[in-house]
Amino acid sequence: MEGFKTIIEPFRIKMVEPIELTTRVERELFLEKAHYNTFLLHSSEVIIDFLTDSGTSAMSANQWAGMIVADESYAGARSWERMEAVVKHLTGCPFILPTHQGRAAERILYSHLGGKGKTFISNTHFDTTRANIEFSGAEAIDIPIKEATIPSLEHPFKGNLDVDKLDALIADKGAKNIGAVILTVTNNSGGGQPVSMQNAREVGEVCKKHGVLYILDCCRIAENSWFVKHREAGMENKTYEQIAQEMFGFADGAIMSAKKDGLVNMGGFMSLKDPELAAACTNLLIITEGFTTYGGLSGRDMEAMAIGLTEVFDPDYLTYRIRSTQYLGDKLTAMGVPLVRPIGGHAVYIDAKAFYPNIPINQYPGQALVAELYLTGGIRAVEIGSVMFGKYDALKNLIPAPMELVRLAIPRRVYTQSHIEYVLEVFEKLVGYRTRNKGYKITKEPEFLRHFTSHFAPIG
Ligand code: F0G
Repeated sequence: MEGFKTIIEPFRIKMVEPIELTTRVERELFLEKAHYNTFLLHSSEVIIDFLTDSGTSAMSANQWAGMIVADESYAGARSWERMEAVVKHLTGCPFILPTHQGRAAERILYSHLGGKGKTFISNTHFDTTRANIEFSGAEAIDIPIKEATIPSLEHPFKGNLDVDKLDALIADKGAKNIGAVILTVTNNSGGGQPVSMQNAREVGEVCKKHGVLYILDCCRIAENSWFVKHREAGMENKTYEQIAQEMFGFADGAIMSAKKDGLVNMGGFMSLKDPELAAACTNLLIITEGFTTYGGLSGRDMEAMAIGLTEVFDPDYLTYRIRSTQYLGDKLTAMGVPLVRPIGGHAVYIDAKAFYPNIPINQYPGQALVAELYLTGGIRAVEIGSVMFGKYDALKNLIPAPMELVRLAIPRRVYTQSHIEYVLEVFEKLVGYRTRNKGYKITKEPEFLRHFTSHFAPIG
């Protein structure tokens, strides 16, 4: 589509799912009933669902066809063999462990490697990754490059990990106390920002020097490859898949939530190079997920994943995917909505602290924006700030997260341009109320992953 500025969806719609349209009065009731936590809404109460890009992809006709011919045998199913072959080809790892989603692989690998006294280091641990590590008794330290924490700053690879800090931190903690170094591509919690090939290579060199395990958290590796091809010198003539393969080549293994770039509604895997580590994880896999040739998956899930992991590297799909996310981001920027710049692959991240400068951090400006988006337009988003990552000191004062973001995560192949135009209109209304100065308080919260189930109440 060279020479045209309209980004058409490179697919036609064959099957439709109705959206229930609601009024503001209805939404006020729904949100109150959900204790102002959008995770607790019914999906039928949502018009545009930007809660997550995870497990929300529309599958292709090919994937649905694959699900019909899938093999549901307990052991050695054809669908497993197909998925295993695709994942081996992509990751270059000889040992592939299927799991029902990303965090199941995290639980297996990080409970085995973790425990008290162990440290894990990442550009940014995703919330489930951090929770699995901390649940094992280990600590999780984030060391993104310093540019990553300034939302408005433009940088081509803001997802990069600070390699100098990594070297110093491993030396300080002692290599034997490092559970693993985890490079998250793209860096979801850090704004969906890409990681460069050079950074992935350098992280590998530091890990090798210290003899520390290096894992890619690769659930958006295809989107990351798009950025590498278009932003990094020397990468322009490689295919997206070759770029991904090269990146996997530096690491000792990977964990993937296939619910993102696997283009499936459920699925994940772990891939490993070391036979001993693979054997230990396989034991845990069988105990908690399922036999080695299905993990927590049915044959049809594995079939759909094998096809999805191939489709996702299609250049027309990837270009549409990244450019349509950028379209939303660029229009919001033009409207004066402060965003994490540049726009990442799977989502647009709003800097809620800058959007609502009058709301104190301990009244969660991100949560306030999430609530307003829902009330005004039925848009469901998620706070990635002090609700998700805040901690308390001994006196129960909030220790805020580094940034107060709200994520609009775009499901793959689901919404069309007119949905996005509607979202932009909703923002036009919100921009008029930026003087808002009251936020929310938490009235009930669990110990781990509190954003999922906490209850909130508006202040004042
Ligand atoms: N790692 C990253 C970078 C993720 O974004 C996620 C999930 C996981 C691991 C865990 O995978 O959900 O299959 O268990 N992210 C979703 C999100 C939930 O909304 O960003 P999972």
